[in-house]
Amino acid sequence: MFSKGDHVMDKIATERTKSRLGTQVVHAGEPRQNPYGSITVPIVQTAAYTFADTDALEQFMAERMFWDKPEFQEYGRYGNPTVRVVEEKLAVLEGGEEAILLSSGMAAITLALLILLHPGDHLVITSDLYRRTRTFCHTFLKRWGVEISVVPPGDLEALEAAICPRTRFIFSEIPTNPFLHVIDLEQLVAIARRHQVYTIVDSTFATPCNLNPLAYGVDLVVHSVTKYLAGHNDLLAGVIVSSSDLMTPLREAQAMFGAVVDPSAAYLILRGLKTLALRVERQNATAMTVAQYLETHPRVRRVWYPGLPSHPDHAVARRQLRGFGGVVSFEIDGTGEETRRFVDALRIPRLAPSLGGVESLVTIPALMSFYDASPEERAALGITDQLVRLSVGIEDPEDLLADIEQALAQLD
Ligand SMILES: Cc1ncc(COP(=O)(O)O)c(C=O)c1O
Repeated sequence: MFSKGDHVMDKIATERTKSRLGTQVVHAGEPRQNPYGSITVPIVQTAAYTFADTDALEQFMAERMFWDKPEFQEYGRYGNPTVRVVEEKLAVLEGGEEAILLSSGMAAITLALLILLHPGDHLVITSDLYRRTRTFCHTFLKRWGVEISVVPPGDLEALEAAICPRTRFIFSEIPTNPFLHVIDLEQLVAIARRHQVYTIVDSTFATPCNLNPLAYGVDLVVHSVTKYLAGHNDLLAGVIVSSSDLMTPLREAQAMFGAVVDPSAAYLILRGLKTLALRVERQNATAMTVAQYLETHPRVRRVWYPGLPSHPDHAVARRQLRGFGGVVSFEIDGTGEETRRFVDALRIPRLAPSLGGVESLVTIPALMSFYDASPEERAALGITDQLVRLSVGIEDPEDLLADIEQALAQLD
């Protein structure tokens, strides 16, 4: 598919050294010349690849290194040219050497942890990880003989104290869900290096626009591509990005586990990524405006947004993030019933569990991701019936503010 002179890797080298994010989201990883002179990367919708004759087949088998040959593969589970372009673009955006695109964010997280941890290993996680990630650690990983320690977000002393000789990884999110804690990556990496432990960071909420964890020395970055990267609430995908040789076993495992992305979905991701910088810039700005507005409203008890000085991690966030993100969490000053009334009165944000897309989405965590959590678990994590999480889309900010204002007015 790609001629030699236009190999994607040459392009990446150029994009890496020369362009900024707004240009990279459009061009990085893409061949300059596509088949048929197509401006856009073709969707190579195939399950397997044909060989001209048995000599060509034999030569391929003798030389094969599946993921080193973006221009040719043998079978769709081992690689696809459309998928490969998305991977190259995401590697550039995160400043990593390599990216693996998978069928969902959870596929990325579970594959990384299952393959890189062995029985007897120890893993340190923070207590506010995405609930499914925590459940995976406490159920599946424990079943495979991996021991888990859970530490409060932001408590780096507790994190260091939890490390033992068997600790192999620290896993954290940035910012976290729903309270948007921002861990100090410099300190996290310093602790990890002191104890020769690897770090994985789920940077879904930050996006490569607001943060590049690899630049701080984090070993592996994962994203739910479903959220900001794809950005249109229309597909599921995940990615692992790294410059370390930890990627080789992960690539091999993906070829076996089969958690691959369909070429059509890969094209939609590519298309979504073109506007990532624009979307996130808008979402950062609107979320800040909404957070500031909510903080002054008498029917709002508390707001969590890392861009506000009132957020416990504001200082770290200012130092580390280029933008504070598109998610705002807040508590209604009222009952759970009133909180539901407020959410039901919203006309623009839809009631749905995801985030990061062009449509604003709102959720009451107690009614959704923590519906089946025990009262003790909810209390420990601060999940109240009044807590609302708003993922700001790209709608007109004034419309969004007016909508929130009228919904809050329903409580009077
Ligand atoms: C921070 C974070 N990581 C991972 C995931 C899982 O991603 P996916 O839904 O694409 O499997 C989510 C999903 O909500 C998330 O919020």
